[in-house]
Formats: sequence, C-alpha cells, structure tokens
Amino acid sequence: MKTPRELEPLIEDGIIDSVVRRLKSGKEASVFLVACGAEIRCAKVYKDANHRGFHKLAQYQEGRKTRGSRDARALAKHGRHGRSVQETEWKNAEVDALYRLAAADVRVPRAFGVFDGVLIMELVCDAAGQPAPRLNDVELTPEQALTWHSFLIEQIVKMLCAGVIHGDLSEFNVLLDASGPVIIDLPQAVNAAGNNNAFRMLERDVNNMRETFGRAAPELLETQYAHEIWKLYESGELKPESALTGRFEFDQTEVDVIGVLEVIEDERREAEERQRRLEEAAAE
Ligand SMILES: Nc1ncnc2c1ncn2[C@@H]1O[C@H](COP(=O)(O)OP(=O)(O)OP(=O)(O)O)[C@@H](O)[C@H]1O
Ligand SMILES: [Mg+2]
Repeated sequence: MKTPRELEPLIEDGIIDSVVRRLKSGKEASVFLVACGAEIRCAKVYKDANHRGFHKLAQYQEGRKTRGSRDARALAKHGRHGRSVQETEWKNAEVDALYRLAAADVRVPRAFGVFDGVLIMELVCDAAGQPAPRLNDVELTPEQALTWHSFLIEQIVKMLCAGVIHGDLSEFNVLLDASGPVIIDLPQAVNAAGNNNAFRMLERDVNNMRETFGRAAPELLETQYAHEIWKLYESGELKPESALTGRFEFDQTEVDVIGVLEVIEDERREAEERQRRLEEAAAE
C-alpha cells in the first residue's frame, strides 16, 4: 500500500522496511501491519488530541511524572508547548506501560520502541498466524469464560503490583492468541499510587471483565474482586500470588455520595461509548 505520511520517517530511518496494510482504525489510533526484515510487526499511529475521545481527560494523567520542570510549567499553562508535551507524554505512556508490564510478567505485546511518535510492537497472532481476534469477537463456553476471567483477574493484580491500572480494560482491548488472552491498548494507563481516581478505574476494569465473562458464566456476576483487590493493595498486602475469593464484606456505615455520583457519570460515559461502538460496527 501507499505509505501513510506518519510512517514515512520510519522507512527513511530504516526502522521498518514497508507497510503491508492497515489493520484497524480505532477511535484513538490507526494500527498498521509493517514489515521489519523477515518479521511482520504492528505500527500504532496515534491520532492527535482533537480526535481522541474521553481519554484526554486529566484524570488519567494525574500522578504521572512529567520529565522536566520546564515541561511541567508548560503543561500547567495549557499553551502550545504544553500541548505538545502532553502529546509526547501520551505517546510515551503506552510504551512505558508495555515495558513495565512485560517486566512484571503480564501478557502484553512485546514493544520495540516509539519512533517519531509511532509505537512499534509485536503482532499478536492466532493459531493460524493471522492477527489475533478480540475477546468481543469470540463465543465463549462457560468453562472458558471462568478460566479466562480468573486469568485476567490475575493479570490485573500483577499490573497493580507493578503500580499500573489499565484504565480502559474491556473485551475490545483483550486479544486472544494461541495461548490465551493478551492485554493491549495502554496509552491511558494510570499510575496507581499517585491518582485519586485509581480505585474507580480499577473497579471499572475489573467489572468490565465481570460483565463480559458473566454473559457466558453468570455466577461471575456476583463477584466483588475490585473491592477485595483494592483492600489488599491499600494495606500493602497485595501480591501477584495473593489468593482471592471474589467475596467482599461491605461496610454499611458510610455512604460516599460524591463517589456514587462519579460512578453514575462513569456509567453514562461507558454507555455512550458502547452506543458509539454499536453504531460504528453497524456502519462497517
Ligand atoms: N499488537 C497487536 N497485535 C495484533 N492486533 C493488534 C495489536 N495492537 C492493536 N491491534 C488491533 O488494532 C486494534 C486497535 O488497537 P488499540 O486498541 O490499541 O487502539 P485504539 O485506537 O484504542 O482502538 P479502539 O478504539 O478500537 O480501542 C485492536 O482492537 C486490535 O484489533
Ligand atoms: Mg482499543
């Protein structure tokens, strides 16, 4: 295919040899199959902030370390340099998260780096060597749903032990290779320690998995992993191998009104996003 403009510098610099085809164009990025020597890899080209959805919200960036004090001041002023710092941070956040998570033994695509703002990573394939399907593309048996749900809860725990919350974990951001689930799409990954919204993001990720797998294995719908995981995390006891039950005793004494309102707002945004996906799927 004709080389997209954003990939031209990568060809000039010899990072990739050629562009095979466009794999997907999502709300926040376009993903291309590219040839690198004998290998086929993925190139993820990020859209600029004006074309991104709700992820540009500051809640994801809270607690992230900005590189220098000049950049931090620029960010605070919201000027042109500030915006460009923010763009660079967004593009580096995903590769940072991929390296950090791979080191923590989380199943993510192997990253090769960011070049001119483009992420080059391993292409996740199915057993036939084709680009892997997404979790939402497959019909699950109850047994498979239970196995993969518990695997993904383990992955979420490993991520949190490494200080990371995915922040957009859903059936659209889990691929299935020959050995099982692989987690993708991490530019919005949240630094668990420095972010006031951390629990809510974790809860949303965990509950998205509950809902997805609960369709095939309804007993999962009763589980409360998010609270259980968070309590262990907050008390410094969470370990990758922590044994979890999915049960949690709620404290009935306090009602967190602001928290409840925030959850409602999150749900509304999620519903909007689902609607958008449905419309997009219908238009495809
Ligand atoms: N490493 C990979 N291997 C195989 N396929 C991939 C890989 N990375 C991304 N994809 C495919 O490209 C799609 C878009 O990638 P990603 O989710 O990272 O970007 P996005 O812009 O957030 O897209 P979306 O709006 O669909 O979530 C994925 O749903 C998946 O089908
Ligand atoms: Mg995605």
